[in-house]
Amino acid sequence: MVHLMRLARAASIADLRELARRRIPRFAFDLVDGGAEDERNLRRNVEAFGEVELTPRYMIDVGAVETGVTVFGRDYALPLGMAPIGMLNAFWPDADVILARLCKRENIPYVASSAASTTLEKLAEAADGNGWFQLYVSGDANVTESLVARAEAAGYDVLMVTADVPAAGKRDRDIRNQLSVPFRFTPGVLAQLAGRPVWSLASLRNGTPNVANYADLLSSATSYADVQKTLITPRFTWADLERLRERWKGRLLVKGILHPDDADRCARIGCDGIVVSNHGGRQVAFGPASVEALPAIAEAVKGRLTVLLDSGIRRGSDVIRAKALGADLVLAGRALAFGVGAGGAAGAQRGIDILKLELVRALGQLGTPCYATIDASVLSHR
Ligand SMILES: Cc1cc2nc3c(=O)[nH]c(=O)nc-3n(C[C@H](O)[C@H](O)[C@H](O)COP(=O)(O)O)c2cc1C
Repeated sequence: MVHLMRLARAASIADLRELARRRIPRFAFDLVDGGAEDERNLRRNVEAFGEVELTPRYMIDVGAVETGVTVFGRDYALPLGMAPIGMLNAFWPDADVILARLCKRENIPYVASSAASTTLEKLAEAADGNGWFQLYVSGDANVTESLVARAEAAGYDVLMVTADVPAAGKRDRDIRNQLSVPFRFTPGVLAQLAGRPVWSLASLRNGTPNVANYADLLSSATSYADVQKTLITPRFTWADLERLRERWKGRLLVKGILHPDDADRCARIGCDGIVVSNHGGRQVAFGPASVEALPAIAEAVKGRLTVLLDSGIRRGSDVIRAKALGADLVLAGRALAFGVGAGGAAGAQRGIDILKLELVRALGQLGTPCYATIDASVLSHR
């Protein structure tokens, strides 16, 4: 009860993050909250959105505001979907299913991660037609093919292949926390659990999370290196992408694009879209913020690809900024994850409600009642 009152008082995604921080042991909170090395890109993603100014226009009828978008022939209620997040049940028990159901309820896309802590079949069921599948290309071609075949059989029709993990991100918080997959209960971890009883009891009931899609394969893994190699390869190249294009009959998106020439090449290969993304600042600490990379990329593939963006979405107005700079749809990762961490299913709902409220208010304030018609003319020119 007290907790629901706290959720109702949460005014922003930052408030939900703070509630989550107080409920979750540090090693699990840092797993989601942290970024690569000194976290420069993690901060930069959010700061760069703040630098994109939009100029309001007034005396326009904004009595009815429309937030719907059509992407890949499907109508969605909001220009916002859930980004793929691996191992999220370590953040909050059953987070994957909670978010997949939320996306169905809200009629927005839910992207199931290859590295999710729930199988892709269960997530397809929970997302019930709103699910897309994110693929990590494995070092073992049979593993990749098996994931693609399973995604096909489960009814996913959008495949999002992630390109931006040729080497694992170096996340200093996880190193300091001695985080490992498979998960180990060190004395330090046990001490943190004692301080977070609600999380600990819920986690105990749900069992230790793992990368569920690979559970059978990893039962014989003897080292972290084995695990990494099963999940992802440093040898994924354009030739592999071309083969994947041949193999996958549905819509194909490439996630993690930061250079206009890479975007152009995706279009020439016959992909349907890209996600301009720096993986939420978790991979490198020296690159551009996604929103900084967006305008040149959108220009390079205009009319040829559907352009998505993620990394740094924390406010409803960020969704409008991304559209003004050329994105058709955005994905939120941590914003909705913080909601789940703050209060399970009720917290996830609070997260989407906050973003929705901010988006609708900002559309009205800006004098742009229809999201779909927003273009660069709303940007401030000074
Ligand atoms: C804990 C965590 C795990 C992630 N796991 C994956 C993953 O399995 N596959 C993937 O393509 N991206 C993954 N991402 C990146 C997200 O899909 C997305 O690019 C990022 O969260 C966007 O930034 P934001 O959190 O600022 O919204 C992960 C992000 C986080 C925070």
